[in-house]
Amino acid sequence: MNTDNAWAAIMAAAARPHARAIRARFAEDPGRATRLTLSAAGVLMDLSRTSLDDTALEALLGLAEASGVAARRAAMVRGETINATEKRSVLHMALRQTPGVGGPTETAGVAETLDRMRDFATAVREGTILGATGERFTDVLNIGIGGSDLGPAMVARALVGPSDRPRLHYLANVDAHAWAALRAVLDPARTLVLIASKTFTTQETMANARLVRAWLADAVGEAGIPAHLAALSTNAPGTAEFGIPPERVFGFHDWVGGRFSLWSAIGLSLALGLGWERFSALLGGARAMDTHFLNAPLSENLPLLLALIDVWHGNAMGYTSRAVLPYDERLGRLPAHLQQLEMESLGKRVGLDGALVPHATGAVVFGEPGTNAQHSFIQMLHQGTRVIPAEFILVARPDHAEAASHRILLANGLAQAEALLQGRNAASVAAEMRAAGRSEPEIAALVPHRVFPGDRPSVTLLLPRLDPASLGALVALYEHKVACLGAFWGINAFDQWGVELGKQLAGPILTALEGGAPPAHPATAAMLAAIEAVKG
Ligand code: F6P
Repeated sequence: MNTDNAWAAIMAAAARPHARAIRARFAEDPGRATRLTLSAAGVLMDLSRTSLDDTALEALLGLAEASGVAARRAAMVRGETINATEKRSVLHMALRQTPGVGGPTETAGVAETLDRMRDFATAVREGTILGATGERFTDVLNIGIGGSDLGPAMVARALVGPSDRPRLHYLANVDAHAWAALRAVLDPARTLVLIASKTFTTQETMANARLVRAWLADAVGEAGIPAHLAALSTNAPGTAEFGIPPERVFGFHDWVGGRFSLWSAIGLSLALGLGWERFSALLGGARAMDTHFLNAPLSENLPLLLALIDVWHGNAMGYTSRAVLPYDERLGRLPAHLQQLEMESLGKRVGLDGALVPHATGAVVFGEPGTNAQHSFIQMLHQGTRVIPAEFILVARPDHAEAASHRILLANGLAQAEALLQGRNAASVAAEMRAAGRSEPEIAALVPHRVFPGDRPSVTLLLPRLDPASLGALVALYEHKVACLGAFWGINAFDQWGVELGKQLAGPILTALEGGAPPAHPATAAMLAAIEAVKG
């Protein structure tokens, strides 16, 4: 089958009457939840609360076959330049030492960097590497943005506990309010600064690095600065020019995309905050998911099936967004990490051949932890005119002793998925209101507002516990999902040309803000004049 036929089969499956029904599928097949729940690497995935049935699944798997996803996966493993527009291979799996991924050069380089990261992180944690004034490092400040911030910051929030030392801080935004807030709480004599930038040219990161360098110089003098700095980068000349000694540079390679880089030297803050054992367990969890992704048959492959659900929702059903709802406060930055991972990877309109793709690509991803989300945007998921598939992430066992709180949390997460699915019809609302003694005119007026249409899809992911291994596996699941979607849609999921234009245009506008030639575009010029007028 070719891809045109595969897409036609998916669209035909979606055009069937009741293709969007979910409730009815449970009525026909009460064992559906068991049948559509799979697990791998400690992550359990329940697809039953979607409208997926055998016909849809067969059509979707037809696309998986026709798109050559297995061949693309094999090419990725072999280190072929599948990121064609940047002429790069895509080998982030090699960072977690997944067997069979990358050649001897990559494998040896990864092992060497991991050894250096381990030795450095251990020495800092044990106090054998000290600051310039002989003090122990109590705080680590990671300066980086995008993939050089979001992944590590997300994992730090998930896994670093209040008593872990050193404490981890992340500075991303060039808005110096962010630096002001950190500067107020950090002591330069006890702060280790990591400049995390693959390119070591990113404007925001370098601007923040210069501010922080000056702050260090004030406290420990120019000569003391090297003791407080390390660089995580592929740009050795750039780090040398910044004055970072080679033994404080932790490198990686251009085959690691920014949004896939938390497993590389970019994860050094995590090795420092978690300790080597837990950082290794994070890599191990990702490795377990890699092994599953590379070996499981397509019909049992979690990342591939999760990607097919996105095709079903995005292409066949026309849904344009997805809500990520982790029912765990510690996963509060996961939606932000997934926004970069998915929207930077899949926000593409041109295929590998340079032609416009004939179908929709990546969805809008947004989210917040439950139960907070229930008290903000979840109203729209239940009763809005747009259908927004939800993704619940539940954690079976908490790491606190408040069992009652955790039961409330889980009950709410499960209830939301059930409410989206089941909905509530007018008769049931009216009966409840009558039982509560409400008048008939009041019932007639309120019933339409209180009806829930139901049949709104959700996927649930369950982790036994939020530990390094399960988080590593969860993040790798999403990474491989993205790779599969790139194959299904025929796009390059590993470049990000869309971020370039704004960066280029910022140059002349900055010159104008510094008193140079006014901006060329009238709207920008007018707003710049308005800024001048109102700033006083
Ligand atoms: O926003 C574009 C981007 O290139 C991301 O892909 C990347 O994660 C981020 O900038 C940071 O880049 P660097 O690590 O080179 O500073």
